[in-house]
Amino acid sequence: LKIAVLVSGGGTNLQALIDAIENGTVTNAQIVSVISNNKNAYALERAEKHGIFHQCISPKDFEMREQFHDALLQALETAEADLIVLAGYLVVIPEKMIKKYRNRIINIHPSLIPSFCGTGFYGLKVHEGALKRGVKLTGATCHFVDEGTDTGPIILQKAVEVKEDDTPETLQRRVMEEAEWVILPRAVHLIANGQVSVENGFVKISQ
Ligand code: GRF
Repeated sequence: LKIAVLVSGGGTNLQALIDAIENGTVTNAQIVSVISNNKNAYALERAEKHGIFHQCISPKDFEMREQFHDALLQALETAEADLIVLAGYLVVIPEKMIKKYRNRIINIHPSLIPSFCGTGFYGLKVHEGALKRGVKLTGATCHFVDEGTDTGPIILQKAVEVKEDDTPETLQRRVMEEAEWVILPRAVHLIANGQVSVENGFVKISQ
């Protein structure tokens, strides 16, 4: 399975996927392209270090948003991506891309959807919301991307305990380490090995 990973920041989820492929935890998968909207994203350095093709395609480089969308779609075509992984990607995915790659775009969100998700809930804001509500369990969700925000069919979730002395930063770190970096590679492995199907908007995992 050829995978394109879209990133915006540190790329720790990208790194988890790179490591899982390199150590054989994820099979039948190859990252063929890493695309960032941010030329300074450390995620691009991570790709560089592992000899993975990478490029920056930023909305700022285009007069019209439509031209950015076309450039992004063209890059995915050229890469012959079968699966698109959003790993901390902060740009809204164009509708025509969602339609073209129906149930072939996955996202990792740092909460147990439908809690603390949707517009405005990204990065630390997700964890601030969890701490503000006083939940005892939070976690991460890997889901297919549809036209909404964090609304697509859920593939995998993993819970993480919230500790009394947690700050948004300590909680974010634990959710990444204990949940995101576990379920994203696992979801890719399941998809790459034909074990995931979507029926009536619900994900079925075989074996
Ligand atoms: C983090 O907030 C993570 O929870 C979310 O995207 C942000 C950056 O992730 N998935 P990464 O380190 O760039 O993968």
